[in-house]
Amino acid sequence: MSLITWNENFSVNIMEVDSQHKKLIELINELHEAMKVAKGKDVMGNILSELVNYTVYHFGTEEKLFQKHGYAEYVTHKKQHDDLTKQVVAAADKFNKGGNIITVEVMNFLKNWLQNHILAVDKRYAPFLNSKGVV
Ligand SMILES: [Fe+2]
Ligand SMILES: [Fe+2]
Repeated sequence: MSLITWNENFSVNIMEVDSQHKKLIELINELHEAMKVAKGKDVMGNILSELVNYTVYHFGTEEKLFQKHGYAEYVTHKKQHDDLTKQVVAAADKFNKGGNIITVEVMNFLKNWLQNHILAVDKRYAPFLNSKGVV
């Protein structure tokens, strides 16, 4: 079973963003699966670095939309992105330096990290951007 299952509650009604969120969920599920079946460190290291890169790319997409449309919460939202990026980079560094293991704690951290951000923070921009015609 997947660690996270995408459902309509996650939707921000913006096709590009929803598909990026789905991709992030997929990467976390892949990492979880790799951890469960004890895949090699190369496989897990690759998924983690893809997760880091895709996270940076995704946050950039949202931030460009905020700037383009003058979203009032741009600064606070960007601060959250910067903090989350640091956390996921730290998790990847720890994996690379610390014996190449992914623990259940790390998986739960990633799961909550993504879910909480989408549900509590990303959802806040949806009505605003939708009203600007971003769908
Ligand atoms: Fe997002
Ligand atoms: Fe965000």
